[in-house]
Amino acid sequence: MDAARRIVALDEIAVDDTLLFTIRDGFDREEAILTRLADGVAAYRNHCQHWTDVRLDSGDGAAIRDGELLCQRHGALFEQATGYCTTGPCEGATLDSVDVTVENGAVYLTEPDYEFEKLGPSGEHDLSSRGRIDFSGT
Ligand code: FES
Repeated sequence: MDAARRIVALDEIAVDDTLLFTIRDGFDREEAILTRLADGVAAYRNHCQHWTDVRLDSGDGAAIRDGELLCQRHGALFEQATGYCTTGPCEGATLDSVDVTVENGAVYLTEPDYEFEKLGPSGEHDLSSRGRIDFSGT
């Protein structure tokens, strides 16, 4: 596997924890959430299916609640292994996956056309908190 596509050692992520990382396609950067499962890993683009301009996390990886990924905005829950929304305003939708694989104890990006850029946030601002009219008070 190409060393430039190595995201992290598998042991650096606890089971039922998440890790935020950034991928790039040319000048386009996207954030992704890596989550460790009991039998592997899964990764998803860091945006909700309720409001797709809203990130799932607060800038440091998505929270896990009762074994599901939690959207920090309105509390939608997504299955870790599939990204399927079980509860919340986007129930029935599925997170956009990012292809990753485990090889020799490390997690690698296998998403076509994208390069692994770095661990952590992209550094680009989340615009979701501005300009949206939200009557929910959140
Ligand atoms: S933006 Fe994620 S649940 Fe509303």
